[in-house]
Amino acid sequence: MLLEIKNLRVKYGNIEALHGISFGVKKGEIVTLIGANGAGKTTTLHTITRVPPPEGPRVVEGDILYKGQSMLKVEPHDVVQKLKIALAPEGRHIFGNLTVEENLKLATYARKDVERIPKDYELVYRLFPRLYERRKQRSESLSGGEQQMLAVGRALMTGANFLLLDEPSMGLAPLLMYEMFRALKELNQKEGITILLIEQNAKLALEFAHRGYVLDTGEIVLAGDSKELMNNPEVKKAYLGG
Ligand SMILES: Nc1ncnc2c1ncn2[C@@H]1O[C@H](COP(=O)(O)OP(=O)(O)OP(=O)(O)O)[C@@H](O)[C@H]1O
Ligand SMILES: [Mg+2]
Repeated sequence: MLLEIKNLRVKYGNIEALHGISFGVKKGEIVTLIGANGAGKTTTLHTITRVPPPEGPRVVEGDILYKGQSMLKVEPHDVVQKLKIALAPEGRHIFGNLTVEENLKLATYARKDVERIPKDYELVYRLFPRLYERRKQRSESLSGGEQQMLAVGRALMTGANFLLLDEPSMGLAPLLMYEMFRALKELNQKEGITILLIEQNAKLALEFAHRGYVLDTGEIVLAGDSKELMNNPEVKKAYLGG
């Protein structure tokens, strides 16, 4: 496994949000973690990216290994800069008063491999032509879906080769959702980018990912290939509308 979550228990204050979850992502894979509101999906990503308490969760047991090494002591900025793992957050977190181009540029500030930055602009604009068309536009004037694309674009501009995506389909109209997932698939297949995708939209996520895990109130209750999960009666009943 490239990323291995081992028996991870985390708390916010005294409230335990993850009750000892274990799962993994291999290099080159797309793995999805599906679950309802409040299941602990965002918490899992924030634990990996080391968002500090109290806003972020506190690890009380277990470990997170990256390439076999514990990353619990890694500083948040080094998760991006050294480990090359980037989060495209839920709710987007872009700078509305900056243009698309400025938002992308800001994501590159800590990169050492400056010679690769122009190629990454090309990649982002090729994947999301809408961002290219709107590159001089203030980001707050983008549609929700376009802002979602910008959040993914920013994650890419950090030079990451492992993306953590927090509900990229949220609030997107079907056409934009399709564009988004087509772009993500291309990133995985052509650029070799490994993806951990958190989704409430289980149908979409399982169509797209190689493997998946089902998270239910802080516990992993099912795991398997996407096909297996799609055909699992419990998954069908609880997450795929029968
Ligand atoms: N900063 C925080 N402080 C306290 N409790 C929190 C915090 N963030 C999340 N929680 C709690 O932890 C649990 C898991 O929340 P989390 O945001 O990880 O769920 P989620 O699966 O991402 O849900 P959603 O699909 O609604 O985004 C919830 O009970 C939530 O109320
Ligand atoms: Mg969430």
